[in-house]
Amino acid sequence: MQDLVLGIDVGATGMKGGLVDVEKGEMVSDRFKILTPSPATPANMAPVIAEIVDHFKYKGIIGCGFPSIIKNGVSYSAANIDKSWIGTNVNKTFSKITGCEMVICNDADVAGMAEMSFGRGKGEDGLVMIITIGTGLGSALFMDGQLIPNTEFGHLKFKDSIAEKYCAGSTRKKLGMTYEEWGHRFNEYLIHIEHLFSPDLIILGGGTSKKFDEYAHTITIKTPVEPAKMRNNAGIIGAAVLAKKKSLDIVSKLS
Ligand code: BGC
Repeated sequence: MQDLVLGIDVGATGMKGGLVDVEKGEMVSDRFKILTPSPATPANMAPVIAEIVDHFKYKGIIGCGFPSIIKNGVSYSAANIDKSWIGTNVNKTFSKITGCEMVICNDADVAGMAEMSFGRGKGEDGLVMIITIGTGLGSALFMDGQLIPNTEFGHLKFKDSIAEKYCAGSTRKKLGMTYEEWGHRFNEYLIHIEHLFSPDLIILGGGTSKKFDEYAHTITIKTPVEPAKMRNNAGIIGAAVLAKKKSLDIVSKLS
């Protein structure tokens, strides 16, 4: 198995790729980013994946995080991408256009995998939850280091709507809130999460985690809440690492 694997992080806003040293959990190339096309349909997004692969002149297995529920390579939801993804085989769509074998998993799950393997979650047993805060609100759940995939805690019913609509990073921007103002909202969600799951540790990832210092004081729950260590590249690194671990049961069932 090669040690340099291409990881791709497909987001509702940007599609990013990089070559990853999967032993060290480090990105060793530039970070190549293309804005997610609108509408974010399979026909518009697949050529962008091909462009990312071409940029790196890459041949080999590719890991890819995708912002929806993924089972056996098929998308079962589409909150911030075009609805035509629902029922589409993401794996087949992207493998066909790139000519490469792909491993596709939910984007928050792969970012969580990177954080558990190389970041703040390394060596953490018990129930660890990673919440990614960006355009959407993603979640990854680990029990004693084992991923429980597709949890979608950003879609918990909350405040007459769903949590994602109430406190995603995009909601903060849309409402023109400061990080502190948004932090109070997010804390309400964390209180709900703590009541439901009693996690041992919550790690915050995604763009908003970089501003943790500006809202850390608004968080009142007892569960330790900390920012991710991996920051921007967690999705790319986690995707590449998952591709490497493809032979594990949990991954082959998902991707
Ligand atoms: C999607 C999740 C995704 C999250 C972050 C949510 O809207 O439902 O699958 O992980 O956004 O991209």
